[in-house]
Amino acid sequence: MIMRLAISFVSAALVLAALAAQPAIAADTPNPVADAKAFQKFFTNKFPQLKPEDFANGPYSMNEDLHRQWEEKEQFPPYEFALETGKQMFATPFKNGKTYGDCFPNQGIGIRQDYPYFDEREGKVITLELALNRCREANGELPFSYVKDEMASLTAYMAFTSRGKPFDIKIPDDPRALEAYQKGKEYFYTRRGQLNFSCATCHVQEPGERIRAEILAPALGILNAMPIYRSEWSGMGTISRRFTTCNSQIRGVPLSPQDEEYRDLEYYLSYVSNGLPISGPGARP
Ligand code: HEC
Repeated sequence: MIMRLAISFVSAALVLAALAAQPAIAADTPNPVADAKAFQKFFTNKFPQLKPEDFANGPYSMNEDLHRQWEEKEQFPPYEFALETGKQMFATPFKNGKTYGDCFPNQGIGIRQDYPYFDEREGKVITLELALNRCREANGELPFSYVKDEMASLTAYMAFTSRGKPFDIKIPDDPRALEAYQKGKEYFYTRRGQLNFSCATCHVQEPGERIRAEILAPALGILNAMPIYRSEWSGMGTISRRFTTCNSQIRGVPLSPQDEEYRDLEYYLSYVSNGLPISGPGARP
């Protein structure tokens, strides 16, 4: 009896919840175009002295001192070595004679701004890092670690050939693409970890503020400079490395690199920065 009561209570609650959710669903129909517009407006209002393209330099966009540091760094960029390595790797044929270029449109040159994209055949988001490893595997090579130097070198070179090209992420007319976008957005705004922070807590609410010695980058343009060299890492970091590091910072459990949720997150973050130029590879203090 108690059981049955409990069950009917639960199902009544579910029905009520479903009813209550109805209008919310209608009002919440994802609208990426409006999202991106509001997102960009939020940051340009918050930092009225910045031009939209300035945001592609992460923490260096946040004040003049930092901007000067950035200009000085660009004279002898610490990512130079990775860039050279990446260029060579990119040109070196696999054992079967094919190259990375053969896996990509335009031989892989100047295409960074189109990634990630939604693959309608697979129904999934494909990032550049994932596409690079798939290219290796399709040609009989082992995949690279997503958080180590080889992947950072390859993406550094591909970003470099795309510098100045505005992010041009598309959401095809496919409900699964919209869902991936929406999931990425949810991931970005969901609080987690022992500190109960979301990505937005730091990168939307507090950009320009200091955490320990670091100036928080604004979420607008936050992927444009990837991959980045960081003194703290004494090396390069991919998008995967940065996502997992930020998850650990809030004492949360990071997902595996290139987990579907991280790819959706990258899709969302790149989409809302549409129009801002690729500036990678970057260097950070
Ligand atoms: C506790 C605050 C905090 C949270 C929460 C946080 N980050 Fe970060 N994040 C940082 C700090 C500190 C840095 C290094 C300084 C900087 O570049 O912002 C950083 C850097 C980054 C960068 C590199 C920016 C650049 O231009 O160098 C990316 C990308 C990034 N975070 C993404 C995320 C994502 C995605 C999430 C959610 C999964 C997240 N962060 C959550 C603190 C945070």
